[in-house]
Amino acid sequence: MNRMEEIYFDNAATSFPKPEAVLRRLDDFHRSLGASAGRGAYPRAVATGRVLQECREELARLIHAEDPKRIIFTLNASDGLNFAVKGLPWKRGDRALISPYEHNSVLRPMHALKARLGVAIDLMPVDAEGRVIVEKLNTVLRPKTRLICCLHASNVTGVIQPIKAVGEFARSKGILFLVDAAQSVGAVPVDVRASRVDFLAFPGHKALLGPLGTGGLYIRPGLDLIPLREGGTGSASEKEVQPDFLPDRFESGSHNAFGISGWLEAVKFIRRKGVENIRRHEVGLLRHFFEGLDRIPAVRRFGPVKPESRAAVVSLVIDGQKPLETAQRLWKDAKLMVRAGLHCAPWAHRAIGTFPLGTARFSFGPFTTHQHIDRALSALKKLA
Ligand SMILES: Cc1ncc(COP(=O)(O)O)c(C=O)c1O
Repeated sequence: MNRMEEIYFDNAATSFPKPEAVLRRLDDFHRSLGASAGRGAYPRAVATGRVLQECREELARLIHAEDPKRIIFTLNASDGLNFAVKGLPWKRGDRALISPYEHNSVLRPMHALKARLGVAIDLMPVDAEGRVIVEKLNTVLRPKTRLICCLHASNVTGVIQPIKAVGEFARSKGILFLVDAAQSVGAVPVDVRASRVDFLAFPGHKALLGPLGTGGLYIRPGLDLIPLREGGTGSASEKEVQPDFLPDRFESGSHNAFGISGWLEAVKFIRRKGVENIRRHEVGLLRHFFEGLDRIPAVRRFGPVKPESRAAVVSLVIDGQKPLETAQRLWKDAKLMVRAGLHCAPWAHRAIGTFPLGTARFSFGPFTTHQHIDRALSALKKLA
């Protein structure tokens, strides 16, 4: 008897599978490199340093950053968001303007600041599909608004935010602009310069197809943050204080050079394939999925109607069924891996009316195929 193929639909949590070249590079790291970067003058330590440098260069090209040194390695997107949110020189009474779709990786650091320093949080106005209404941002701006923070794509509804227009607005008002690009870099084109981004946090392990434990934070030239951590950097070791140059200022302790070596291969893979082509593939998958879902009346889906307006993330609810039950049955009956619940974004679920049970979420990647979508549709049809 043929075993049913297991299909992974949770690429918004972390991507699977990874490209073969990534797996080979990871295997090779501990066999032939294995040294810590910047910690020795012998060839393997120097070669590890080159891997880090090359990865920074690839990432800088991908997001159009001015200088690879302005990209610091982090543990994941949350880590970069913490660096940016908590590293600003907040004063009591300052305010942050954020979108109602932010992930807990922004909400929780913001609320920690609120509790510690009295920083107030204001919400951006959005339209019926959850898109920020840039023309109305003026109405929610206050004299002490210091930061505008917006995710590029929602991990709940997939809505892609007009970050270029928001960035231009922020720059015109002299307000710093932080973008949570957890669901976009690698799958949706990102240009930090064109979009007037001051800080951009992104994971390596989602659409960029790198291993878990990788991420980055872009810091625009001329800007600084107060480091959250201090420690050994392998540089300026005679000084008791943290180096003031990048990236060392924010990279204390030994790097995850193992993960970054795999990540380097992943970014090369993405650049070879082309983000525009990946995007086209994923929009095609969304269109196929939506055409099928439209024929299943008991399925309610959320977010923008047009596939072009969203990342490859689809939250849905089957009438009369709890999302957790939907996800469990999709696994049990059809071997489909989807995520159920709030997806660490409770405010997004309040906005779309699915709090507290959340939704069942399908998220695609470059290795998702139209056959996979057909399997998902036939399983949902049976369930509904
Ligand atoms: C919009 C958004 N922001 C932040 C994060 C956190 O990413 P990481 O797990 O890399 O910290 C996620 C992860 O799901 C996300 O979807």
